[in-house]
Amino acid sequence: MFLDIPPSTREVMESLEQRDAADRVDGTAHLERLRQIPRETGAFLALLAASAPDGPWIEIGTSAGYSALWLSLACRARGQKLTTFEILPAKAEKARKNIADGEANDVVTIVEGDFLHYATDLGQISFCFLDAEKDVYGACYEAVVPLLVPGAIFVADNAISHQRDLQPVIDRALSDPRLDALIVPIGKGELVCRKRS
Ligand SMILES: C[S@@+](CC[C@H](N)C(=O)[O-])C[C@H]1O[C@@H](n2cnc3c(N)ncnc32)[C@H](O)[C@@H]1O
Repeated sequence: MFLDIPPSTREVMESLEQRDAADRVDGTAHLERLRQIPRETGAFLALLAASAPDGPWIEIGTSAGYSALWLSLACRARGQKLTTFEILPAKAEKARKNIADGEANDVVTIVEGDFLHYATDLGQISFCFLDAEKDVYGACYEAVVPLLVPGAIFVADNAISHQRDLQPVIDRALSDPRLDALIVPIGKGELVCRKRS
């Protein structure tokens, strides 16, 4: 996965890394910032997704498509597809361009809108990455966990960087009998859960 990243995908990833780094120093307005995961989290997500059981994968919070590009590597390795949800039209537009430029259109579908409006229409899920506004984590968790197939992986970002805001959902996951869960200190801190059989 990592030694043969397609050149077009790598080029878009590098351009997004530069843009995200610039956002963080030049005071770009919050809604315009990409707020994307760091590289090591992207690689970690791809490894986790590649280890998930067969079935549909979702991402909640696309931004400009950086994490979706990492997950596209695992999609190719496993023959799976990712659907990623983005509520802001301007971000969804950027993501559509980046996913097309990164030649990941065949494995990544972008849905523009609030994930919670779609949650009741989803079937089973074998991998989910949650990286949206912190106030919807609880609702997303409650919507997604019942849909996870046995062995499915659920990952939520910012478990350390926003621990105080996310403490209720972290506590819920760590004591949820449907899951095995822990916090992994990589990037901004990942809450990693596996659905029990
Ligand atoms: C932290 S950014 C995602 C970064 C992206 N995962 C990456 O690493 O490249 C969070 C994104 O979630 C989107 N978002 C927030 N609430 C959402 C919701 N309810 N449904 C879909 N997208 C949402 C925001 O507009 C924002 O673009």
